[in-house]
Amino acid sequence: MTETYESPRISAELGNLPSALSAERNPLARGYVSQVLDQIDGVAIEDLAAEHGSPLFVFSERTIREKADRMRTAFRSRYPDTQFFWSFKTNYLDAICSIFKSEGWGAEIVSGFEYAKARHLGYRGDEIIFNGPYKSPASIRRALSEGAVIQIDNWDDLERVEEAAADLGGTFDVGIRVWFATGHGPIWSKFGFSLASGEAQRAAVRIVESPRLRLHTLHSHIGTYMLDPEAYRVAVRSMLGLRAEIAEDTGHLVPCLNLGGGFPSYSLLHGMRGPAEAAVAPIERYAEAITSELMALPEKERPQLRLESGRHLVDEAGYLVGTVVAVKNAPIVPLPDATGLSALSIKESSLLTRAPKTSYVMDIGINLLYTAAWFEISVRPARETRQMPESARLVGDLCMEIDVIREDVALPRLRVGDRLTLWPVGAYNLGQSMQFIHIRPEAVLIDRNSQVHIIRRRERLEDVESAEVLPDYLSERGDV
Ligand SMILES: Cc1ncc(COP(=O)(O)O)c(C=O)c1O
Repeated sequence: MTETYESPRISAELGNLPSALSAERNPLARGYVSQVLDQIDGVAIEDLAAEHGSPLFVFSERTIREKADRMRTAFRSRYPDTQFFWSFKTNYLDAICSIFKSEGWGAEIVSGFEYAKARHLGYRGDEIIFNGPYKSPASIRRALSEGAVIQIDNWDDLERVEEAAADLGGTFDVGIRVWFATGHGPIWSKFGFSLASGEAQRAAVRIVESPRLRLHTLHSHIGTYMLDPEAYRVAVRSMLGLRAEIAEDTGHLVPCLNLGGGFPSYSLLHGMRGPAEAAVAPIERYAEAITSELMALPEKERPQLRLESGRHLVDEAGYLVGTVVAVKNAPIVPLPDATGLSALSIKESSLLTRAPKTSYVMDIGINLLYTAAWFEISVRPARETRQMPESARLVGDLCMEIDVIREDVALPRLRVGDRLTLWPVGAYNLGQSMQFIHIRPEAVLIDRNSQVHIIRRRERLEDVESAEVLPDYLSERGDV
């Protein structure tokens, strides 16, 4: 054996290679880079954008039905008397609401406008729950006369319901909304009657004693994106406690408990650690927390359970496809000296001292992405690239400084024309989107056979102008 042993050496070039090449050696980086999204339910992103334009909202019928099915099984297998109501404001595109209707969901609405929309879609009055802090007298009359359950929010709301009931004659099922602390997460105290102060109890007794009203439901919506299933256990206990007190005072056992919505989707708030599947408990845990409390009651005393879930059911079914329209390379910013900095506002100094990075401008503004303010919406390129992701800024195409979709997101080097898909965006974004600077884009639904259907056409100038009135004395149109 003449060979001499040489210890392993770290080759000189290892530290000097461009970051893109180091991805070749790093299987984790390669794993990240291959996280492209080039199709949704079997339809190529490129074909969707070519056919329907960019930006484009895309909804997956398969995902909606899978979520509905899983939720139904989670609850009904544990507690058969569970009824589901689709929270219209989460997404009231007719096509989306109709999918839930076909799954057997009722409608949960919060205004006269939403009520009319539900009736247009064929919901009977008795399939509708009417929530909200203010309901107009006309909408209350309509809802009562058509058999909807109004869930009363405050004393003035109650007074208006009593007046409408007296005018209409007959007796009507109503509910009351209640709020309390669960000790898990923030307290939502804007809506309903306070439990701790006794006003929920007083409102309940007043309704039970009213000749025109029947107390059908105790309702509570403890918040949205509630990460701890135990919050619901506390909620059920609190509401059962109230129900028992009402029964003791009046002899009336309220037949229905409505736990509202609030179950999270697989999304992350800014600053949360992912992946979302690890941070968010499965729906079965929520079902177990709620139903195990109800099952502990003697069988005859078990109320009907109602749920008004929104975000959990539709968020992951929604995608927003867009295009990179400009690439702005990292600016070279001369850092001000310490004395200069002290004269700047906190915001200015944080902007100036932030590490420079590339900005990608998309054709999507935050007017389409209301939830981007809270949620770290994921961004996935449609084109495979084997480059190392780099920290970048993703901004929109509005002429506004605040139009930032992701302040810091790891992306491979992109070029103008690249498609990016933002996800999950199915909850709240479309309903809360604003026509601002640009008209709003098309929305399509991919059915279970991968057929694409337009469910909201791209807006036109006429749509925006149709609600405007130009006084004659200002009009020069006739002369053009
Ligand atoms: C009364 C009521 N029910 C249900 C929901 C749906 O909530 P989520 O989307 O968190 O499930 C809301 C939304 O805020 C609500 O206010």
